[in-house]
Amino acid sequence: TGMFTYDPGFLSTASCQSAITYIDGDKGELLYRGYPIEQLATQCDYLETCYLLLYGELPNAQQKADFARRVTLHTMVHEQMQFFLRGFRRDAHPMAVLTGLVGAMSAFYHDSTDINNPEHREIAAIRLIAKMPTLVAMAYKYGVGQPYIYPRNDLSYAGNFLRMMFATPCEEYRVNPVLERAMDRIFILHADHEQNASTSTVRLCGSSGTNPFAAIAAGVACLWGPAHGGANEACLNMLEEIQAMGGVEKIGEFIAKVKDKNSGVRLMGFGHRVYKNYDPRAKLMQETCHEVLGELGLENDPLFALARKLEQIALEDDYFVQRKLYPNVDFYSGIVQRAIGIPVNLFTGIFALARTVGWIAQLNEMISDPEYKIGRPRQLFTGAAKRDVKPIEQR
Ligand code: CMC
Repeated sequence: TGMFTYDPGFLSTASCQSAITYIDGDKGELLYRGYPIEQLATQCDYLETCYLLLYGELPNAQQKADFARRVTLHTMVHEQMQFFLRGFRRDAHPMAVLTGLVGAMSAFYHDSTDINNPEHREIAAIRLIAKMPTLVAMAYKYGVGQPYIYPRNDLSYAGNFLRMMFATPCEEYRVNPVLERAMDRIFILHADHEQNASTSTVRLCGSSGTNPFAAIAAGVACLWGPAHGGANEACLNMLEEIQAMGGVEKIGEFIAKVKDKNSGVRLMGFGHRVYKNYDPRAKLMQETCHEVLGELGLENDPLFALARKLEQIALEDDYFVQRKLYPNVDFYSGIVQRAIGIPVNLFTGIFALARTVGWIAQLNEMISDPEYKIGRPRQLFTGAAKRDVKPIEQR
């Protein structure tokens, strides 16, 4: 045994000290470096948010322009990356592809290999933020068999991403400002969320002194799971399943299945380890959902109506009330992304793109901490007591 605290799932263990993101789960409050997410989402763009997370303060106009310039210098990926991508099946899950592509970046840059060197970390950070949209769009284009679209540095971060996703060489592509703003907001809302599973993974992985790109690839791998970043995909699949069962009329039946613990069915996009109130990101996402559906003439989208009704019914149901289960960010983000034209299996990839900056900021903070050590949890041993190996014929 041993004198260790047993805390499966880290329900009451603080793994680090952090000054980046603050969540008040009871109030449903989220602050990045002290700034409320509502203000950042309405008054700042994603690159400003990245700057804030990385350096601790919002940039002034000059700092913002310099940062954007540094990022856009790195938006292209090495041409060799295309050949690496070609090794995948076209029907590979984009998260499998992305885990591979981000991991492969560690083989491309020999000036940013040392995670303990602040200059190496800085250039790796800029490259990752700059290249994630390019990689996600390439993974998508590869899957649908269309040519890759190179980045355009005169567009905004979100605008460039939309263009790389949806432009073709055959015709002019115009970025729709409403969709651009929505995409940017999705990025801001997913940029960081303190010590969640993928962030803790990145910290633990980075704590061994591994290559910075490899540490971020570990975060991508962790994010894939349906209890974490994969929830937006799982949520949309759930809504489609209820729709196929008969839509709004079948919500009661579905909720009954969720409440039956033997069914193994959860209401996806609901519940959170930290929020025991409405996830503030879900409110902002619902707003964006309205805007995007309005812009695209999809106000009567049956999935949106279904989601609204499902939310309303769950929020009035004792099961959810007693357990303080509220919609989380993923409940509406899938509907927005689907309306924009993003395929369901790419949702988590977009989450990874946005969260990359949070992973890097957390990694930097860990490594800059004078108390930083390799992460090495202990265990309570429950296996066999010491015994002797018998010769094979006696076993
Ligand atoms: N549907 C039905 N019941 C639920 C749900 C749900 N979505 N979430 C929690 N519960 C129940 C759970 O069965 C348990 O009930 P009981 O006390 O009777 O055993 C109770 O609520 C507490 O749940 P828990 O699993 O112990 O809570 P947790 O903190 O370990 O899990 C969670 C948090 C997010 C994994 C969970 O709420 C869940 O699986 N939600 C659905 C998946 C989801 O939407 N994930 C996205 C999270 S937000 C984005 C991100 O950070 O990735």
